[in-house]
Amino acid sequence: MTTPLRDAIYAVRKARLGLERRRLDYGRETRERAERLADVLPASAAELRAYEQEYDDLEWFHESYADRVAEIHEAGVATDTTHWRDGVTLYVVCRALAVETVVETGVLFGSFDAHILAALSENGGGTLYAVDLPGGPPGPFEYGHLIPDRCRDHWELREGDAREVLPELLETVGPVDLFLHDSDHRLPHMRFEYETALAHLTPGGVLASHDVRLSRLFDRFTEANGLRSCVVCDTGIGRLPSSSARPDSSRS
Ligand SMILES: C[S@@+](CC[C@H](N)C(=O)[O-])C[C@H]1O[C@@H](n2cnc3c(N)ncnc32)[C@H](O)[C@@H]1O
Repeated sequence: MTTPLRDAIYAVRKARLGLERRRLDYGRETRERAERLADVLPASAAELRAYEQEYDDLEWFHESYADRVAEIHEAGVATDTTHWRDGVTLYVVCRALAVETVVETGVLFGSFDAHILAALSENGGGTLYAVDLPGGPPGPFEYGHLIPDRCRDHWELREGDAREVLPELLETVGPVDLFLHDSDHRLPHMRFEYETALAHLTPGGVLASHDVRLSRLFDRFTEANGLRSCVVCDTGIGRLPSSSARPDSSRS
């Protein structure tokens, strides 16, 4: 398929997603987060709700996050490419699995990064390796501006196209407890990242993806590769079985 045709299909999908988001009941999605995640994670809904509560009570995080959001808004730049509700989902997953090694693509201002790093901080350690294109976000900011200062020692940024950077990064960091896709949402790129990451997930590890409602890819990919999955708001969470019975090669 030619690139202009792919871009046109992507534009149509994005427009359709915009309409679907207006209809989506985010309040209900959020209320059902714990139940949906309990189908996928080795934790009860009550335990997962306790992590939601812990997140609500994380004063050091909320103070820093609100200040940084205000700075970005004052500069006239939008921060809301990722909603905080999706960040909470990642926070809960990272706490429930006590993840140590996380790899993510697509940083921008670092909403997801901030939430994942807050969970690592509460876990007592770990590293988030993040990938974004060279150049930085819009406005006078660096990638990951939303990340609280106290979390920065646990964050490593690689600038480059994920197609080039991701395979080597995944080789270097060893088994990954959680991989999160939030970069280029055109289907060939999403599929590339899912396939590349899947081979490096630890047994019981998580493949997470933002904007899964753009297409059926996430559902199809997780099902074809034996991952239990759920979607909360705009984020998909798929988990490999804890036993090491892994697929030989990924299928979609
Ligand atoms: C939707 S934003 C990410 C939002 C971010 N995850 C957050 O929590 O706020 C998408 C980001 O993906 C990056 N990106 C797009 N294509 C990429 C690629 N091929 N490799 C790496 N990063 C890419 C863009 O530069 C942009 O910063």
